[in-house]
Amino acid sequence: MATTALKIVSRVNDGSYAEYWTPGYVLDSVYQVLGKPVGLDPACNPGIPNVESEHYYKASTDGLVWPWEAETLFLNPPYGKHIGKWTGKLVQEYQAGHTKEAILLVPAKMEVKWVQPLLEYPVCFWKGRVWFETPFGKTPQTQQLFGSALFYFGKRVERFVEVFGSKGKIMLPW
Ligand SMILES: C[S@@+](CC[C@H](N)C(=O)[O-])C[C@H]1O[C@@H](n2cnc3c(N)ncnc32)[C@H](O)[C@@H]1O
Repeated sequence: MATTALKIVSRVNDGSYAEYWTPGYVLDSVYQVLGKPVGLDPACNPGIPNVESEHYYKASTDGLVWPWEAETLFLNPPYGKHIGKWTGKLVQEYQAGHTKEAILLVPAKMEVKWVQPLLEYPVCFWKGRVWFETPFGKTPQTQQLFGSALFYFGKRVERFVEVFGSKGKIMLPW
């Protein structure tokens, strides 16, 4: 593997690399809850969008600076030190009523500050590691070293539980 790829792969593994894309087997469950296409993917990959969405923002159009007006939204944000800006914006946009229903895919980390506001929402802790797609393929070397959590924002909690209940442990905040 080329040196650049090796460096990037090590950043995938320390969680600071942005380009790890949601695999189809996770998106299938997302679509079962939110419908397909979803309304908005605010953190879309370069090139052909990996998530089927009516609207998207890419790094070039910066999803952080626009309102997230959407009936349904799926967010797998760029991880690393700015992840809290993304998770915080989703909570704000949902509470403001701009985003009506959403699923958020993030590392299952309980020690970080940004997770605290998310704990007010239903969550599925995915069973096993999610094998993300990357520009370097999908190999043991490109996989993350942590698990994943999917938080649900919306009124159809029963549907979220019905679909994600078999994918991992669901925790409800009430
Ligand atoms: C973890 S990937 C998720 C990609 C895709 N949404 C998916 O779920 O497969 C996060 C993506 O956000 C993009 N990104 C980085 N900064 C961004 C920004 N300011 N606005 C929108 N997208 C951004 C990266 O290029 C990267 O492809």
